[in-house]
Amino acid sequence: MKTLISTAAASLCCAALYSCASIDSGEHYTSTGEKLYADNCYGCHREASSLHEPKSFLYETIHDGGKNMPSFEESLSEAEHQQIIDYVLKQR
Ligand code: HEC
Repeated sequence: MKTLISTAAASLCCAALYSCASIDSGEHYTSTGEKLYADNCYGCHREASSLHEPKSFLYETIHDGGKNMPSFEESLSEAEHQQIIDYVLKQR
């Protein structure tokens, strides 16, 4: 039990360090979803407000990809799929 608690504390600590590191590098994202979108989607789609698909279709597209769009099934977790979708929906 003691190991479990200290592992949890250690990963919290890393998360805090990581967010400080990204602030120091000059990136100013207001949410994880925004950063994930910038890293994974912006290069092809530009502003998220250009995506008008319904929520379920956004999920399928990210998860499965398209004819020319890569699938993010392997590279993004379920939670990350949701964070990107929340971010895209907020841009409407
Ligand atoms: C390598 C370029 C590329 C990346 C990276 C990419 N897409 Fe796409 N995306 C495309 C292309 C090309 C299409 C057109 C449909 C197809 O490929 O069949 C598309 C289609 C879509 C569609 C369907 C609507 C449309 O415009 O046709 C959505 C929604 C979408 N992408 C969201 C995303 C999201 C969210 C991400 C980030 C997780 C992402 N895409 C990353 C290239 C990309």
